[in-house]
Amino acid sequence: MLTLGVNIDHVATIRQARRTVEPEPIAAAVLAELGGADGITAHLREDRRHIQDRDVRLLRETVQTHFNLEMAATDEMVAIALDLKPDYATLVPERREEVTTEGGLNLLGDFERYCRVVEQLQGAGIPVSWFIDAQAPQLEAAAKTGAQFIELHTGSYANAKTETQQQRELEVLTKGTQVAIALGLRVNAGHGLTYQNVYPVAQIPGMEELNIGHSIVSRAVLVGMERAVREMKQAMFQESGV
Ligand code: PXP
Repeated sequence: MLTLGVNIDHVATIRQARRTVEPEPIAAAVLAELGGADGITAHLREDRRHIQDRDVRLLRETVQTHFNLEMAATDEMVAIALDLKPDYATLVPERREEVTTEGGLNLLGDFERYCRVVEQLQGAGIPVSWFIDAQAPQLEAAAKTGAQFIELHTGSYANAKTETQQQRELEVLTKGTQVAIALGLRVNAGHGLTYQNVYPVAQIPGMEELNIGHSIVSRAVLVGMERAVREMKQAMFQESGV
């Protein structure tokens, strides 16, 4: 059954706008779980622009479902993950000047190092998920690193301007999922998914988990986190569910 990972980064973004103590991302995670989240995701960025080290420590202790640590494949973050032991780690590209993660990681760029990162994390019992675009060379490289998971970048689908373009991007994601499964990978997806565009992605055969942040936190500001998560689960499983 397809699951929902709720990314709570932007709860921390609001807190950091004033460098204060509220809103509390840990409380948001508890409420997301009450609303039906199957997992909680947080991205500890190198520049600590939203999630802080104390947040991931507290999430590790309090999350009752599973905790997915999103991180760059750097020595600093690998050391933190080895200490923290999240339920799995999603490895993403990171550039300081970007507003959000802008694309999938290019696994061909630094392949040997990426293999070592998988060895370190999975050797310590932390399954690795590579955040990549649904392109054959990336899928093949992901499998060769020995990682258990990939997360398909759904940004091009989410940003499609026309229905034809959106349909084409959906086909790319569907085919990518099939290829990845044939290579022995487990498949998640995320980025830019909303209440309006999630349903077709949720129908892709073999898809295991969707990681969604901005859209859920945006709705949570207005209607509360529990309800926002409940409504996203409805949108995943019923066409025009919300
Ligand atoms: N998956 C990954 C790997 C991401 O980097 C992000 C954004 O932090 C998401 C999912 C969630 O994207 P959004 O906030 O657009 O739902």
